[in-house]
This record gives sequence, C-alpha cells and structure tokens, in this order.
Amino acid sequence: MAEAAKLSVEGKDLEFPVLKGTIGPDVVDIGKLYSQSGLFTFDPSFTSTASCKSTITYIDGDAGILLYRGYPIEQLAMQGDFIETCYLLYYGELPTPTQRKKFQYDITHHTMIHEQMVLFFRGFRRDAHPMAIMVAMVGALSAFYHDSTDIADPRQREVASHRMIAKLPTIAAMTYKYHIGQPFVYPRNDLSYAANFLHMCFSVPCEEYKVNEVLARAMDRIFTLHADHEQNASTSTVRLAGSSGANPFACIAAGIACLWGPAHGGANEAALKMLEEIGTVDNIPAFIEKVKDKTSKIKLMGFGHRVYKNYDPRAKILQASAHEVFEALGVKDDPLLDVARELERVALSDPYFIERKLYPNVDFYSGIILRAMGFPTSMFTVLFALARTVGWISQWKEMIEDPGQKIGRPRQLYVGPTQRDYVKMESRA
Ligand code: CMC
Repeated sequence: MAEAAKLSVEGKDLEFPVLKGTIGPDVVDIGKLYSQSGLFTFDPSFTSTASCKSTITYIDGDAGILLYRGYPIEQLAMQGDFIETCYLLYYGELPTPTQRKKFQYDITHHTMIHEQMVLFFRGFRRDAHPMAIMVAMVGALSAFYHDSTDIADPRQREVASHRMIAKLPTIAAMTYKYHIGQPFVYPRNDLSYAANFLHMCFSVPCEEYKVNEVLARAMDRIFTLHADHEQNASTSTVRLAGSSGANPFACIAAGIACLWGPAHGGANEAALKMLEEIGTVDNIPAFIEKVKDKTSKIKLMGFGHRVYKNYDPRAKILQASAHEVFEALGVKDDPLLDVARELERVALSDPYFIERKLYPNVDFYSGIILRAMGFPTSMFTVLFALARTVGWISQWKEMIEDPGQKIGRPRQLYVGPTQRDYVKMESRA
C-alpha cells in the first residue's frame, strides 16, 4: 500500500501518512485534516475509524481469528486459564511461575469488599436488574478506595486494577444472592478464581457445597473468552470516560452501563429468551421467516457481529464446552440445546444468513451453558461484565500510559437550525 493517502479538496491536494500495524489493515492518519482543510470526516458508528493504537487484542473478522497479545484465543482457553489471561492482557506477557504465584496471591487477597458497601444492597429493590446494581456498586468503589484513584501514580493504577479484577466476582455474586434473597457468601482464598465465584453464587451457609471441577473449568473458559475484544462499544466507552482523567472505578462503571445493551453484552440474555420463545424445533421455520421479514424488526439474537464475518472463534469453543457441562450435570436432553443446534443448522444453510455473513457469535452458546449451571438469564450480562473488566482495565491502562493521550472529543455534522432570534411567548402561534 502507498505510504501516503492523497485527498483533493476544492483543487487543493492534501497528503496524509498511512500508518502500518503489525498485522491488519493500514490506517490513514487524518489527525491534521481539519487544520489543513477545514473538513472533518463523517463516520458515525466508527465503521471505518481506528480510535487508537493498541497492542492488546487483534481480531481478523473475515478469518475468524482472535488474538490476545498475539496468542490465539483457542490456545489460551484450552491450555491456559483466566488468571494468566488477566496477567497477559494487563502486563503484556504470559507470567513466569513466580509472577503467576504473586499475581494470583494479589488478586486473591483483594476479593473482599469494604463491609460498609454491603449495606448498599439493601437500598435496591430485590427485583432490580442485576446490571443496574453492578453499575452502581462498581461506581461506588471510587467512594471507598481513595488510595487508588490517583491516575498519575502507576502503583495506584495497578492497585485499582487488581482490586477490580478481584472484587468484580464478589460484587457479581452478592448481586445474585441479593436478587434471590439468600445470604451473601464471602470469598474463599483456597479456591481458584472461577471456583470461588461459583462457590459465592451457589453455596449456602447451612450445608457444604463442593464446586464441580468441570463447571469451574467451563466458567473459567467463559471468562477467558470474554476477557477482551478490541475497541468495541463498552471498551471505547471506558477509554473515552478515562480520557477525561476520571478515576478507573468510574470508567469501568461506564463500561458496564454500555455493555448492558442488547446489541452488545445484553445479547446473551436476549439469545436465551429467544430460544425459550421458540421452544421447540418445529417452531424454527416460522421464526426464521419472521427474522427474514424486515418489517418484523426481529433479529436472530446471538447471530451476526460487527467485526466477525465468519464463525466467531469463541462460539466454537463454547459449543464444545456446552457438551462437557451437560455431561457433568447429567443432562441427557435439553430441548433448548436441540433448538439451538437446529437453529444454527438452518441459519447456516439459508441464503439470507449466508449472503450477509451472519454466523453464531459468542452469546449464542454462553447463555445455554450459564443456564445449565443455574444462573438466571438476568445474570448473563453481569458475568460478561465480570470477565470483560480485565480487558477494560488493560485498555484504560494502555491509554493512560500513552504519552500522546488527550481527552477524546469527536466532532459532528451539524444539521439543525441555523442561528435565529428568540421569540417571546405571546408571539408564538
Ligand atoms: N438477525 C437477522 N438479520 C441480521 C442480524 C441478525 N442477528 N444481524 C444483522 N442482520 C442483517 C441486517 O438486518 C442487515 O441486513 P440488510 O443488509 O438486509 O439491511 C445485515 O444483516 C447487516 O447488518 P448490520 O446491522 O449492518 O450489521 P452490524 O455490523 O451493524 O450489526 C450486530 C452487528 C451484532 C449489532 C447485529 O448483527 C445484531 O444485532 N445481532 C444480534 C445481537 C447480537 O447477537 N449481538 C452480540 C454481538 S457479540 C457480543 C459482543 O461483542 O457484544
């Protein structure tokens, strides 16, 4: 590709540098476009815009490839675990045995939340959506951990990051317990990250609860697969919030709010609701017809992706994981799994979906697994937020540590009224 891109505006020729990444498309650096031409670019949903340089995650949507710091997601999910994935995303390299031990110790010893925060839960209605509670609780961390909100101090940034990776499972589990009216269960330092989370969610004080290893492994894999995903809507939200100098707890709360939407993290909840609505395999053809009818506005939830125009690599891993979980739980037949499999088969052979390159995404199978584990659908996006926290925090750290970092400030194409004079009330018709 050329080293410079040329643009001709009203007879004036302008040249812009073309920047090369290590892999992936080159980008045209239009940072000086406005000062040289008086023009802005117009790309409302950022379909052609790179908002930053990053070394964290790479996606090739056409080939169905996802890399964290260069490592394929399949290898990390199947051979590694979530704790080392957190280390990798945050520090840039896989940990040595000593680094891993220390990191695991640090995360494990930050899992409790300030006891006064426990009182906050009482202020929420029991039927509040768990994501509403998450946004509030994570934002509230900034009211309790003042010693890690100075973003100019690298050690404070690190402590805040460790705190969030450690405390999100505790807050998520408490949110779940509050929702179902059971007592909170405190974290256990002798359990792995995923096993501790399952223990906090599903144990009760009146009896012993032994974490099923297969379920803990599946949970760990779900966390790993959701840990980061480049500059998606919630990550961009975290970066934009952080670009103003806001503290990291507030930035992650902003990310959680953005993730809530059904076109983003809320899709796993919506996908499972859709499978339940379809109910049985016989109802699939009629449902597919409704999806294809543009006037119905119905989408096949868990299908399609802004970046993947091929099979989402995360969906493949979860499809296999679903079988392991079902076997471990002794579930022989689950009508929803039958509906999911058949829906996938029909969609992948239908020209509507083939032409538009609509493949199952990560949310299509994660919901089925989480439901089998015993989570209600309203918790699905919470689990996504828990897993994505390390990605958000790594992206936030990368942005803060960039010496050229400035506040983000998109511009606009104004199409409203031009200047006009105020009209007194008595003169308005
Ligand atoms: N079902 C039916 N048709 C679809 C779907 C779908 N799930 N997704 C896209 N289309 C159609 C869309 O109507 C359009 O058709 P046409 O060209 O005839 O107008 C075409 O495919 C292109 O769609 P688009 O809206 O331009 O694609 P997008 O890149 O803007 O949207 C998406 C991506 C994820 C918002 C969308 O595919 C969608 O809403 N999917 C369902 C929700 C979902 O599963 N989201 C989870 C994404 S993965 C988790 C995450 O990263 O947050």
